[in-house]
Amino acid sequence: MERILLIGSGGREHALTVALLHSPSCEKLWVAPGNPGIAREAECVALRLDDHTDLARWCEQQRVTLVVVGPEQPLCDGLADVLRQHDVDVFGPSKAASQLEGSKGFSKDLMQRLSIPTAPYRRFGMHEHAAATDYVLQHAVPVVIKYDGLAAGKGVVVAATHDEAQRAIDDMMRGMFGDDGVVIEGFLEGEEVSVFAICDGERFLLLAPAQDHKRAGDDDTGKNTGGMGAYAPAGIATAEVMERVSTSIVQPLLRGMTEMGTPFIGCLFCGLMVRDNHPSVVEFNVRFGDPETQAVLSVLDADVAALLASAARGALDPSTVRSTQRGSACNVVLASAGYPDQYEKGLPIAGIDRAEEDPQVTVFHAGTAMKNNQLVTNGGRVLGVTAIGETLDEAMRRSYAAVEKITYATKMFRTDIGKKAR
Ligand code: AMP
Ligand code: GLY
Repeated sequence: MERILLIGSGGREHALTVALLHSPSCEKLWVAPGNPGIAREAECVALRLDDHTDLARWCEQQRVTLVVVGPEQPLCDGLADVLRQHDVDVFGPSKAASQLEGSKGFSKDLMQRLSIPTAPYRRFGMHEHAAATDYVLQHAVPVVIKYDGLAAGKGVVVAATHDEAQRAIDDMMRGMFGDDGVVIEGFLEGEEVSVFAICDGERFLLLAPAQDHKRAGDDDTGKNTGGMGAYAPAGIATAEVMERVSTSIVQPLLRGMTEMGTPFIGCLFCGLMVRDNHPSVVEFNVRFGDPETQAVLSVLDADVAALLASAARGALDPSTVRSTQRGSACNVVLASAGYPDQYEKGLPIAGIDRAEEDPQVTVFHAGTAMKNNQLVTNGGRVLGVTAIGETLDEAMRRSYAAVEKITYATKMFRTDIGKKAR
């Protein structure tokens, strides 16, 4: 039986909370720091996430058998390494392996060396402003400019013109996000899909493919956001595509990481562009995705605690999974008007209980807080309204019916989550 500490506070962690609590192997679950939705189901603890040694000691005291890390930052900061030094099992990669997300240049160089399909690219250091400008002016548009380090999802510009590309390079080279330099890469055509691989360093298991909706407005208009909704499974990732993801992407990557002495244990998030049944890698992340996880875990029929524990111990056990695709799920994100720019916080939220009267609906909390005993908005993405159904249509209908029952003054959402699938 597992005594689990889950790290994080978003919708992804609320979905992980629900999945872990439903696991026969879960004896006890703590979440640090959690959020008001998570607090209704599990014990939230106010641990300092930046003091890794303190966290490891707490785990020893509480006899924690498994730590599951939600967000990338603690992983890139080396949390998993410190926990392992204290003999605590962790579902999440080491600092060295987290470079797959923490440095786009690292991940592009590795993919090139391992012949993993991805867009052609070049890396430029902070002292190479002029060279980067020359390169981009000779490059066809659209062209993609990426900050090399972590930039909270904001470090990517898909430039439609040379002017725009030039501006992006100027901003990044001026140190807008830090001094890690830039990657300039070719534009990939196709449709995006996210595939999560549960990895134990050697073996892996692919979960249901999902499709995020990154733009703020319907029909993929407006600004890029952290994700306005997702559905799973995504039909664009056919069996043929999933086979290619296994053999041309995840397998060589895991082998390459092990050969470098930095085996990957955790959730490998493959952000893919699919064209004519061929997937190319847009990015790797070293953790579950948000808002995809809410949909992917909703269709996963498994003892998730046992699955993640087996991966963390280097002995992935596929028998913990009955099905990765039990029906379909649709997760509609309820955001705050103004997101991803300025928005108001602290507005009272009502109707979640009514929305959850449908037993197929779960409302995951992302940016909420309690103020004087009242649930209020506390972020750009507030809730994730997720429904399951036998078909995607059914899941979408249920999810949007539940969305109607939830009210707050700045409520904003996309009305077309899942439509692309048809
Ligand atoms: P990333 O943070 O690398 O996932 O990039 C954010 C978004 O930019 C992706 O989800 C894509 O929509 C887009 N993007 C990034 N790289 C490319 C590329 N090479 N071709 C087309 N679109 C891209
Ligand atoms: N859904 C995109 C991400 O989690 O990075």
